[in-house]
Amino acid sequence: MQDVSNDALVFFGATGDLAYKKIFPALQAMVKRGTLNVPVVGVAKSGWTLEQLKQRARDSLEQHGGGVDAAAFAKLTSLLAYVDGDYGDGATFRALRKALGGAQRPAHYLAIPPAMFAVVVEQLAAAGCTAAGTRVVVEKPFGRDLHSARELNRILHAVFDESRVFRIDHYLGKRPVHNMAFFRFTNAMLESFWNRYNISHVQITMAEDFGIQGRGAFYDQTGTVRDVIQNHLFQVLTYLAMEPPVRTDSEAIRDEKVKVLKAIPPLAAVDLVRGQFRGYLDEKGVAAGSRTETFAALRLEIANWRWQGVPFFIRAGKSLPVSCTEVVAELRRPPTVFPTWEPRNNYFRLRISPVNELAIGLNVMDEDERAVGQPAELMASRHAGPNEMDAYERVLSDAMAGDRTLFARQDYVEEAWRIVDPVLAVATPLHAYEPHTWGPREAERLAPPSGWHNPNLAESASL
Ligand code: BG6
Repeated sequence: MQDVSNDALVFFGATGDLAYKKIFPALQAMVKRGTLNVPVVGVAKSGWTLEQLKQRARDSLEQHGGGVDAAAFAKLTSLLAYVDGDYGDGATFRALRKALGGAQRPAHYLAIPPAMFAVVVEQLAAAGCTAAGTRVVVEKPFGRDLHSARELNRILHAVFDESRVFRIDHYLGKRPVHNMAFFRFTNAMLESFWNRYNISHVQITMAEDFGIQGRGAFYDQTGTVRDVIQNHLFQVLTYLAMEPPVRTDSEAIRDEKVKVLKAIPPLAAVDLVRGQFRGYLDEKGVAAGSRTETFAALRLEIANWRWQGVPFFIRAGKSLPVSCTEVVAELRRPPTVFPTWEPRNNYFRLRISPVNELAIGLNVMDEDERAVGQPAELMASRHAGPNEMDAYERVLSDAMAGDRTLFARQDYVEEAWRIVDPVLAVATPLHAYEPHTWGPREAERLAPPSGWHNPNLAESASL
């Protein structure tokens, strides 16, 4: 059988922030697990030596990788090479070709700003680094609207056909996220109420209790909708709403996810509330008087057979009271039988982070009173085990093995932009909110009838 694994990993932006925070920790974890055993070549223009890059890797592991594992680190540094040079200079890429030695089908990971993709891809081709079997791995956000996403695709496709393009959305590498399909389609109970006849609405909340962490220059050009909603939370949405795939190969699964997006009409301005936390304008890198949102709440509909008429609410923000990503699907209320107490809506709750939780919200009889109820939850909770893969380890390993399931396909990316483009193209109101609150008051206007469900990190009630 033909080997579809890459025989080297090249990462551009080797001295940058992403490499420091995510890539070195993922590489050490891959070495430890035995899934990385090929040359790793870092490329950047910093005037560094290989020794400096190794030192950077060590710091990265100490700060962000759970510490240096002596054996894995020794192995990783033995695989590591470094090419320093300008991305516009052919000599950099000839040096890269040399550093690759006998490797013929590397994965090229572009951990660099998209503005540099065109020149790097072109130079890679000119230096003979794009033979059959090579892949290109890029990061979200893929463009800043439909037009720029198509332009990026055009640049990548000039050299790499779609089957060789791996667009990382690290949310897909999170076990609780890609396990959603598994959970949905292996439990018959869920399917019986997972539709418009039983679900009254669905909420997805991604709350972060910190601000923009020194990423002002990036964030101010991006905002919440582009940073996490159009990509991470739409991925969560498609797993929640998709039909069972007809097969389990990557394309069958990605087909179903695209079908969900195709059924979503473009967002209307009235279905979006944007907020900005007070103090954002004082952050380094943020433009004076910036109108970029650090909070967004929106309502959309999936106009297909299963979901028509069921509103989906998505809310995300920085500087909120907690850090938690959670889905709540509320069922329609049962008829009232006991005149003494009107039952609450049952719900299904899926917590993605910080801990994976699955819960069903029910009504039970109060301890003291007859026929008066109280809410309770049946809950299963699971902490990440010591060997659980971090999202970046998972997506990098999958890219190098050629498994496309956890990557965003071109048609998916374009559909996602089609949905949010109309509201990004116009100036919608921006409301201030106090840090560590649940966003601007105006978000209440959009809330479902039973209100926003604000994740509570305290122990959940259980039966
Ligand atoms: C990134 C966003 O893609 O995802 C950040 O750019 C966000 O703004 C981060 O904080 C959240 O991911 P995680 O895995 O840290 O929850």
